[in-house]
Amino acid sequence: MNTTVTCIAPVNIAVIKYWGKRDDSLILPTNDSISATLDTAQLHAKTTVMISSDFKEDRIWLNGKEEDIKNTRLQNCLKEIRKRSQLSGYTNDWKICICSKNNFPTAAGLASSAAGYACLTAALAKLYKIEGDISIIARSGSGSACRSVMGGFVRWYMGSDKNGTDSLAKQIVPASHWSEMRILVLVVSDEQKKVPSAIGMKRSIETSQLLQHRIMHVVPERANKMQQAIVEKDFKNFAELTMKDSNQFHAVCLDTYPPCIYMNNISNNIMNLVHSYNDAVNDVKVAYTYDAGPNATLYLLEKDVPAVIGILDHFFPPFENAIEYRRGLPVEEIKPSQDLLEKLKFQKYPPGQLKCMIYTKIGDGPKYLNNPQDHLLDGQGNPINCS
Ligand code: DP6
Repeated sequence: MNTTVTCIAPVNIAVIKYWGKRDDSLILPTNDSISATLDTAQLHAKTTVMISSDFKEDRIWLNGKEEDIKNTRLQNCLKEIRKRSQLSGYTNDWKICICSKNNFPTAAGLASSAAGYACLTAALAKLYKIEGDISIIARSGSGSACRSVMGGFVRWYMGSDKNGTDSLAKQIVPASHWSEMRILVLVVSDEQKKVPSAIGMKRSIETSQLLQHRIMHVVPERANKMQQAIVEKDFKNFAELTMKDSNQFHAVCLDTYPPCIYMNNISNNIMNLVHSYNDAVNDVKVAYTYDAGPNATLYLLEKDVPAVIGILDHFFPPFENAIEYRRGLPVEEIKPSQDLLEKLKFQKYPPGQLKCMIYTKIGDGPKYLNNPQDHLLDGQGNPINCS
């Protein structure tokens, strides 16, 4: 009997943002959201789960450090899994060991909880042979995680049931549907401590009138338009809706009292550069979006990547000796012409404002690793290869 499962799961970046809960403990949102699942080849969480009648207690290690298994969100996930596992053959009093790590630095400020809970859920679902939707289980760990249990473009339906049975994610289209779509994650240097999203969104629900307007009058229509733009591969509409939704989300954060400020001066100027570039080429070639932090995620088509990287390297140059500045898929940048640089009328920044640039694409969702060498737990359930 196979008692060990190892899985990798992706990060997702929302283009219609989730911000606000109608039930904090069940993690039920106040609006639908839509995201793209990124390729696990560049960014992923990796998790090994192991079940044994010999284990005395449940235990978890994250990035090499033992964490409190009693964490409420973790317990929500485990309870949900054990509730659904009646048919799997394991008695529910068997204990499990969990070991998880990210292949990207947590300090990079990328949404690691989404990949982490999606990975934990996918691994446990296989271990306990759970059939059917697992997005609800991932959601009980972190809302946005429910969108990382599948690939391509994904919509999380807010649902209306008070127990959350219909608040789940569904794939809109697989990654292959829009295979030209690319993503550039620009990691912005930032030392400031941010308000965690769970606290920020609670504060927004309590104080922001703009959030109420967004929930009632903006997102319902915008989410449908976004879905249509994705199905029709209409980049211009996709890009404009993405940017407007990011902007409204950050406007809600500023309308929150006391305000939550996630974007910094560099984030704002990347946003300005994207608009200048789109204006200069008289088209919408690039879209930005920002989560609860200063990093920019750019959506663009493959054919435009070399020119856009050329522009970014010109205006936001890396330090000359920067190690591993450019990560992910290989690409040759195209240096911008003098004519384009003049049209952009943009101020060049001193080196080092961006920590790194990750070039990736849309991916297919979680993957199981069957080679025992990939496991993060040894035969006795002790962590290995996991710091
Ligand atoms: C800004 O999913 O991290 O990234 O449900 O409390 O764990 P919890 O929040 P989380 O919030 C993500 C917020 C966001 C927007 C998004 O991903 O849709």
